[in-house]
Amino acid sequence: MSENNEKKVHGIVAEYESVDSLLNACRRVRDAGYKKTDAYTPFPVHGIDKALGIKPTVLPWIVLGCGLTGTITALVMQIWMNSIDYPYIISGKPYISLPAFMPVAFELTVLFSSFGAFFGMWALNGLPRFSNPLFTDPRFDRVTDDRFFLYVDASDDKYDETSVREIYEQTGGEHIKTVIDDDSSDKIPKPIFMAWGLVIAASVIPLLIVLKMRVTNSESPRFHIFYDMDFSPAKDAQQGSTLFADGRAMRPDVPGTVARGESNYDLDFMTGVQMEKLSAVDPPRAERLVRLTAGPIGPQDGTVGVTEEKEEDSAATTEPKATDTTPWLTKNPLGTSEQVLRQGQKYFGIYCSVCHGMNGGGNGLVNRRARKILSPTWIPPSSLHQDSLYSDQYPDGKLFSTISNGIRKMPGYAGQIQAKDRWAIVAYVRALQASRNASVESIPEAKRPEILEKLEIVDQQLKEQAEAEQAAQDAAKATAADSK
Ligand code: HEC
Repeated sequence: MSENNEKKVHGIVAEYESVDSLLNACRRVRDAGYKKTDAYTPFPVHGIDKALGIKPTVLPWIVLGCGLTGTITALVMQIWMNSIDYPYIISGKPYISLPAFMPVAFELTVLFSSFGAFFGMWALNGLPRFSNPLFTDPRFDRVTDDRFFLYVDASDDKYDETSVREIYEQTGGEHIKTVIDDDSSDKIPKPIFMAWGLVIAASVIPLLIVLKMRVTNSESPRFHIFYDMDFSPAKDAQQGSTLFADGRAMRPDVPGTVARGESNYDLDFMTGVQMEKLSAVDPPRAERLVRLTAGPIGPQDGTVGVTEEKEEDSAATTEPKATDTTPWLTKNPLGTSEQVLRQGQKYFGIYCSVCHGMNGGGNGLVNRRARKILSPTWIPPSSLHQDSLYSDQYPDGKLFSTISNGIRKMPGYAGQIQAKDRWAIVAYVRALQASRNASVESIPEAKRPEILEKLEIVDQQLKEQAEAEQAAQDAAKATAADSK
């Protein structure tokens, strides 16, 4: 003991032979009011935390907090990026579209929670810790085998060595020992530092090699780790091939191929033209149109039919209307049910609104962006509210054809939108056009007050916007005049 007096006491430990005697001792120690205690057993013992008076861990709350932080971070981040900092319509969804934000929110929730669980566990357990003074006693090795240990820490407020010893003795504790603080140096040994240094130095070598390779030339060919991935016999899109007579690796559809769900439609439906009439007046054009409907890639003779059709169309529209003798379908074969209009609204939102704007006015996001960066080659999308695009001058079939094959600078959408949905868009464009010239009488009586109120709000907003623009212009003029 004389030797022990010089060193700091860490605590006092006793060895038990059975779970029952250990549990009994735990309860006695707990009831005596000791808080900084611990039991060591070779296997998990149920109820031991209760016997020692250990409170349930707060880790679940930490994990919950971290998880919620993750969810909120993800949502705020996406709402900020997608609807405030750079509002952008994606696939016709609203700017703040919770379902679209879910995957990232889920991922960040899981990520933050697992960080909370992992690092929280370390922090709560006081880890990392390389040694424990208890390990100095060789008897303690049996804790992983067949012995049970109970320990009371000297830093406990109530710590009193003699009374703890008394409890140990009364409950059958053996080999009761005072544990002395480990006073060996807490400095990290030099060899470990040297090993770290070596590892760090060695890890820089590959980087240096890569750097050298990037700035020097080499005689030997490049090294391919996955040779067959770099040089695959498979062809990329638009690549050539000597295998086929036409030299194309991409194979066009077999002539007459009909897409799923499109088999029930007749040629008029697929072209927007009264084909019987057209075959009578212009057989070659009718033939070309028939071939076009075989697929978006075009006719099978190697010429790209879509452009052919598009150019002809452009000639028809740039010249006076009288030259357009095409017998266009004048009625939308789908009709105008609510379902058709909703479908058309959806597809207009996805495919057309980016250029033509949600209201068809021609000022979609792409147009705004192009004007902002002053793109010199930009052709502004047409406003769909021009007189010349109304159904009396621009039949439904022609509008269908414009959507399908494109016109002048506008690309065709036959390859991306099914014929049925293109007709739905036609119906919706007509609805947009009608909405511009609607009279109060055309609104169902029951809905009039609600809609008129909305219109007033919009009017007010437009007025304010115009005033703000006027003010900005005046200010600009004033500064221009000033600088003169
Ligand atoms: C990539 C942008 C873009 C998209 C998307 C787009 N358009 Fe266009 N659209 C244009 C441009 C540009 C013009 C004007 C072309 C020109 O004058 O060269 C135009 C013209 C038109 C015209 C007038 C045609 C004419 O004969 O004058 C109509 C009608 C039209 N688009 C309808 C649509 C519909 C319906 C959709 C959705 C399926 C759509 N556009 C998608 C850019 C686009």
